[in-house]
Amino acid sequence: MREIAVTVRPGAPEETAVDTRVLGLFDGEHLPEPELQQLVELGEAKSGLRKVAVAHEEAPGGGRRRVLIAGLGKREEFDSEAARVAAAAVAGRARELGAVSLSWALPDDGAEVGLVEGTLLKLYSFDRYKAKADDDANGLETLEIAGSGVSEEAARRGHIAAAAVNRARELQNLPSNVADPIFLAGRAQEIADAHAQVELELFGRDEIVQRGMGAFAAVAQGTHAEPRLIVLRYSGGDQGPHLGFVGKAVTFDTGGISLKPGAKMSEMKFDMSGGAAVLESIDAIAKLGLPVTITAVVPATENMPSGHAIKPGDIVTALNGKTIEINNTDAEGRLILADALSYAVEQGAERIVDLATLTGAIIVALGSTHAGLFSNDDDWFQEVDAACTATGELGWRLPLHRETAKLVEGTFADLDNAPAGRKASSITAAHFLSNFVGDVPWVHMDIAGTAWELGRPYVGKGASGFGVRALIELASRSADA
Ligand code: BES
Ligand code: MN
Ligand code: ZN
Repeated sequence: MREIAVTVRPGAPEETAVDTRVLGLFDGEHLPEPELQQLVELGEAKSGLRKVAVAHEEAPGGGRRRVLIAGLGKREEFDSEAARVAAAAVAGRARELGAVSLSWALPDDGAEVGLVEGTLLKLYSFDRYKAKADDDANGLETLEIAGSGVSEEAARRGHIAAAAVNRARELQNLPSNVADPIFLAGRAQEIADAHAQVELELFGRDEIVQRGMGAFAAVAQGTHAEPRLIVLRYSGGDQGPHLGFVGKAVTFDTGGISLKPGAKMSEMKFDMSGGAAVLESIDAIAKLGLPVTITAVVPATENMPSGHAIKPGDIVTALNGKTIEINNTDAEGRLILADALSYAVEQGAERIVDLATLTGAIIVALGSTHAGLFSNDDDWFQEVDAACTATGELGWRLPLHRETAKLVEGTFADLDNAPAGRKASSITAAHFLSNFVGDVPWVHMDIAGTAWELGRPYVGKGASGFGVRALIELASRSADA
């Protein structure tokens, strides 16, 4: 992963020294330079969002350089999502043109975050295993945002957030023979080492069993890969409630004895996306020094079939004492999250959000546009939903009703991990989890449809890092509240 340097310059945008500068064009507005305005009048430069026209001009130091004219749509509709989209269109074109240094003239107050995010997210690619790196091997090195009112602080926030998303995408993309639970624990160790306010706690297989995390242990018992319960504690200050971030990290989900079909099984390396988002959000929050307290809990294991794997019908006891009948070993996410959620509650978390690629059904219900949101508390839901909306990582709430709650009651134990018939399958998964948070306000985000193939202009195919920016935003808002 290449790092792109991000700078701001308060002077006149056209005085920049870069090889490619960018001017935004809103519907019905004019460009300051007559030569460029002529391209607008000729219809070559268009104001529609995602349009990019290429022109050339005299560089201040002599010679010629590129000017990109980026369509921004209607000024009154221009928000941070539009800024990300426009920046991504420009970044894609700049890559094709071989740009090394890029400067955006700030088109609107507050657009810094979106422009930086859109550029850095668009230029991420997972190519470390390719002999011949892409044609952007010598790609963009610097991104500048220029203009009179430009905020260095905002550009820095965008940079930190986008870099965290890209690191989460890298963890997601890495195959399961590399990014196993020990590897994720190693990444958590790096994060803890980098920040004085972050501490790491790791439990291995023996400790998971000894502490009574019977649901997590049950999933981990089928694999040779050593599981880890990864706990990062961030102590940045005591503003707002003690937050609990919980992320599912099944580094590969075969389904276990309830084996998945072979088609697209390789996608199950992404089943650790929630955990990746949680880990990298903590790194970003620590870099930003947000004045909050967070306990992040990431249960990491493979889900494999083997001679010592759990079997359908097995009954296990979770950390909070509830017994679970495991009727489908492929419903493993809720099992490892059960103990992770109980642990977050035990550690004093006062508001919890979990991210998990939990159900195939959420893809059927919501596609890739919204994550499924579930909550036991309307106020906390509003806060999480507002953070998601602000970052464009959209969520849509689905109901938890006493009638669907009954579907997860077990026949021979307290709970059934996979009710027959698959009625309301994303909802019953959420009900199952609700049994492990007690009375603590909690939001569950089912990100199975959004963690990859998100299809936004700035994150196309492959891993999306979904949720990283929402978690950072949530921590930031929670500190202000
Ligand atoms: N990791 C999967 C969910 C998933 C499926 C994510 C497809 C992305 C794409 C999860 O562990 C799972 O297998 N869920 C089952 C639950 C069922 C057995 C009750 C599902 O959704 O089919
Ligand atoms: Mn599964
Ligand atoms: Zn899974």
